[in-house]
Amino acid sequence: MKDLIAAIQSDALARIVAATDERTLEEARVAILGKKGSLTTAAAGMKDVPKEDKAEVGQLLNSARQEITAALDARKTALQDAADQAALAGIDPTLPARFLQPGALHPLTMIRDEAILILRRMGFSLAEGPEIEDEFHCFDALNTPADHPARNEKDTFYFDSGKLLRTHTSSVQIRTMEQSTPPVRIIAPGSAYRRDEIDATHLSVFNQLEGLYVGTDVSLPDLKGTLEHFFRELFGSGTAVRFRPHFFPFTEPSFEIDVKLEIKGQAPRWIEVAGCGMVDPAVFAAVNRSRKDNAYDPDLVTGFAFGMGLDRLAMIRWGIRDIRLLIENDARFLKQFA
Ligand code: DAH
Repeated sequence: MKDLIAAIQSDALARIVAATDERTLEEARVAILGKKGSLTTAAAGMKDVPKEDKAEVGQLLNSARQEITAALDARKTALQDAADQAALAGIDPTLPARFLQPGALHPLTMIRDEAILILRRMGFSLAEGPEIEDEFHCFDALNTPADHPARNEKDTFYFDSGKLLRTHTSSVQIRTMEQSTPPVRIIAPGSAYRRDEIDATHLSVFNQLEGLYVGTDVSLPDLKGTLEHFFRELFGSGTAVRFRPHFFPFTEPSFEIDVKLEIKGQAPRWIEVAGCGMVDPAVFAAVNRSRKDNAYDPDLVTGFAFGMGLDRLAMIRWGIRDIRLLIENDARFLKQFA
């Protein structure tokens, strides 16, 4: 019995060392330690060993099992290490990594979100309207007569149906007032379209942000305070803001807003950033006719409106000299915002 155990043990160790992959090693384990394995079978012979030898033979069996198990484990680790090494062959972990290009928000998205955030803090909520509009919402209700140049075929994209691509987001003013009663305090960011000659400052699609506040006792000082605060939040608390009298059909009085800024190294100068004014009573009258009620009674409600070009704000903020950069998706340009 002792010789048998010694023979099984040396045979087992030789087999384990000879195993060249995990599958043959597992076969060896089953052949030695499995239910019908050589050592298991030998151990079953214990019952025939004379009583006085039992302790010694038992110990031999145990130590043989321990040694074989340890050899199996060691071989398994060695085989796994070798497999890992092989998998890494040809890979140089000391080479510099290929960095992923970090993503970034588009400058237009950034300026739009910033503008929204400032105005939401002042109580404005988001509103929207269709980009394919009708003449009523884009022009008529906004007190813009049929002979106004903005309605010219050369300036506006018309569909055969008579609909058009909205030339400004001011149409959302009308849609909002049709759907809700005062007070309303909304902003509407979105695309607008014009048949402009494309150059460094004009595109046929651009982005605006419209604002409207209607209630009782909404006054010109409210308009001034709101927009001064807005532009100082956007461009810095020291920014000078001025209101220059202007004309828009849908507001009376109307103003253009300039801010005094220095764009990248240039001397500070006044830059036009928005149009605004007190809502013309004719606009309320048109809304009432459309609603078929008098919810916007021009004797009871007043309001102010404003509209600004987001592309322009982005160009000012980052000193971008050509508006086309905002739509060309040139990675060299966009990378600067990452
Ligand atoms: N709709 C004007 C434009 O596209 C901008 C504007 C001016 C909007 C004055 C307004 C406003 O709401 O009151 O040029």
